[in-house]
Amino acid sequence: MPSTLVNRFRPVAVAAIAAVRRPLEVADPFADVQAATRRHRRAHHCGAFAYGEGSLPAAIVAAVGARRIVEVGTALGYTALAMAHAAPGARVETIEMDPGHVRLAREQISAHRMDDRIDVLPGTAEAVLKTLEGGSYDVAFFDGFTPTGEVVRELHRLLRIGGTLIAGNLILGPDRSVTSHLGDTSRWRTHSFGETALCVRLA
Ligand SMILES: C[S@@+](CC[C@H](N)C(=O)[O-])C[C@H]1O[C@@H](n2cnc3c(N)ncnc32)[C@H](O)[C@@H]1O
Repeated sequence: MPSTLVNRFRPVAVAAIAAVRRPLEVADPFADVQAATRRHRRAHHCGAFAYGEGSLPAAIVAAVGARRIVEVGTALGYTALAMAHAAPGARVETIEMDPGHVRLAREQISAHRMDDRIDVLPGTAEAVLKTLEGGSYDVAFFDGFTPTGEVVRELHRLLRIGGTLIAGNLILGPDRSVTSHLGDTSRWRTHSFGETALCVRLA
């Protein structure tokens, strides 16, 4: 077909594909917390960006049958709740440096009756991670502003061999020590997509 004809019909073909494409609709049990987080951020212009889809970390903790989960970046507790819900036997320890977010997250966690499953640990990741027990977590989820080399090394220490790191917000420009750590094939089996990397601890 001549290229002029191809170019003429391309927009029609793209529109037809878009019309029949049906993204999966996955019910979100914590859509109310995600919405509350958006409202809070709009009102306060803070860094409480709810993760796009809690179903991603939720599916991963369910797939690995996680018992212990550590998260950096609680905001109002959206992904902590999603992970606790998806892995019914698990405890979630979630770290948050903003005292206002700590208070609001505890309120949300209480309202969803998950107080006995989720601990909100106040403070920075840099200060809190080093107090946690090494080799004892099945999943670590980084959803702070952008990971530093120090934080990634601590998350590696905390995971058991075979444990999974979900490293979000890589789009914000992590330094070289982060990208070289996560890309080190002697330490991790890594797959990256969009702004997230999935890294399974090998050693
Ligand atoms: C992207 S939001 C987290 C969103 C949350 N996981 C959710 O899905 O609703 C980032 C949060 O991490 C906190 N934060 C950012 N860097 C941090 C750090 N180094 N240590 C502890 N908390 C941090 C911010 O205060 C903010 O509340």
